[in-house]
Amino acid sequence: MRRIKYRDEEYLVHTRSGMRLIDALVEQGVPVTCDCDGRAHTTEQCLVQWPKDTAFLLTEPTEFERRQLGDRLEKGHRLACQALFK
Ligand code: FES
Repeated sequence: MRRIKYRDEEYLVHTRSGMRLIDALVEQGVPVTCDCDGRAHTTEQCLVQWPKDTAFLLTEPTEFERRQLGDRLEKGHRLACQALFK
């Protein structure tokens, strides 16, 4: 179980290796939706705050996340559609 902050609410989610963070949230009933393509366009509806002390559990930010989030990555923000559990 991992604690994730999404839209100012905290959720505990079950995770599995290779799973996308967004899928873990949806599986727990968190209403995450998005109308972006995850490559060139985002409305950031899947933006989450992941605890920095457990950042090692997720894959490195993708180029898309780096471009979209910039300095927010340092604060633990991730796009849940891009981050995978290792
Ligand atoms: S699902 Fe839209 S940016 Fe992640």
